[in-house]
Amino acid sequence: MSSEMERDILKVLVSEEELQRRVTELGEALYQRLEGKEPLFLGVLKGCFVFMADLVRACQLKCDVEFMALSSYRGATVSSGKVEVTQDLCSPIEGRDLVIVEDILDSGTTLAFLKEKLLARGAASVTIVTLLDKPSRRTKAITADLAGFTVPDEFVVGYGLDYNQQYRNIPYIGVLKPEAYSS
Ligand code: IMP
Ligand code: MG
Repeated sequence: MSSEMERDILKVLVSEEELQRRVTELGEALYQRLEGKEPLFLGVLKGCFVFMADLVRACQLKCDVEFMALSSYRGATVSSGKVEVTQDLCSPIEGRDLVIVEDILDSGTTLAFLKEKLLARGAASVTIVTLLDKPSRRTKAITADLAGFTVPDEFVVGYGLDYNQQYRNIPYIGVLKPEAYSS
């Protein structure tokens, strides 16, 4: 750990090697599930962007890629419980097989809202892929179809996940030192 940013990391939860290995497995599992289809990969910004880039390359299906931005966090480490669409899709999704790509499934508020919205818009199917799953904090009845790693109830950063919009470019999943949480 050398950079100024990395000095804020208390411990590594999932290493770069573990991430790479698991994302390859997830890509192959998705390929098998959706073989013969041309899904639309729908990334939930901003946290998905690193995972999504690796996942689509690990899954050699003919597909297209879109992004939506949803917000339920207001710079805090606890969800506000309300979800807003801050950036919507520009193309119709009727009849499409969707793969939602999310960084972490926490309370489930975001994905429960999104899944319902997409099905209401006429998606043929919705497959949820999340890199991390924090089942201990779930308040909504929603599960991922594929999850990379189950993590304990700790706030994690890196590989796309942020604290106050920072630390997304740390290449592994880590836990911040308490003093890194500014008030
Ligand atoms: P949910 O709606 O509570 O499931 O929260 C999902 C969103 O909250 C994720 O997409 C993340 O953006 C954010 N989030 C939840 N837990 C963490 C965490 O430990 N680190 C960083 N972001 C998190
Ligand atoms: Mg997110």
